[in-house]
Amino acid sequence: MVKIAPSILSADFAHLAQSVQVVEKAGAEYLHIDVMDGHFVPNITIGPLVVQALRPHSKMFFDVHLMIEQPDRYAPDFIKAGADLVCVHAEACTHLHRCVCQVKELGARVGVSLNPHTPLSLIEYVLPMLDLVLLMTVNPGFGGQKFIPEVLPKIEALSRMIEEKGLATEIEVDGGINTETAALVARAGADVLVAGSAIFGAADPARAVAAIRKAAES
Ligand code: DX5
Ligand code: ZN
Repeated sequence: MVKIAPSILSADFAHLAQSVQVVEKAGAEYLHIDVMDGHFVPNITIGPLVVQALRPHSKMFFDVHLMIEQPDRYAPDFIKAGADLVCVHAEACTHLHRCVCQVKELGARVGVSLNPHTPLSLIEYVLPMLDLVLLMTVNPGFGGQKFIPEVLPKIEALSRMIEEKGLATEIEVDGGINTETAALVARAGADVLVAGSAIFGAADPARAVAAIRKAAES
């Protein structure tokens, strides 16, 4: 059973609460919230204010993807705003272990994300502490990019690593996920599928959630 995580990056920001409620009703498990600072990635999106504004409108699991430098400076604000899980980029943390501990101490679930080129070895020694590992299947910064197939063996290797260590860590994939790539990543071992343009760019986002789930489980 995979989980579907619609990314609000491609949603209508003028009607954000309504857009979220559509995918919540469609049974999507996680709401993927992309935070960009114009430094770690070449794009700027939203801050904790938007998370806080959305929180009373949804019971979904808020999965906050921090594509920012110095995530330890801002993680507490996102948790206060209502993030259920905070995911930081390994490439953005000089002291990744400290950053992971900080999120856990504040009572949120914690994830670490890796860019497409970043080896799994970077997270080997923190893996047992993580609730989730987010493997980027595009270079982060924008929605609507093309899936990078070279990440498939990395999903398989992480899946083996998690199994060998007897962990319950979820593998999330993000970028270029649609009904075609969903089957590939699910087969490789992904548990949580982020999709932005394939859901919010579709004429019927609720149907798109169901279609991606069906493709992943086929
Ligand atoms: C990319 C973001 C993604 C993005 C995915 O930097 O982290 O979450 O919204 O968008 P799609 O599904 O359109 O590739
Ligand atoms: Zn994301």
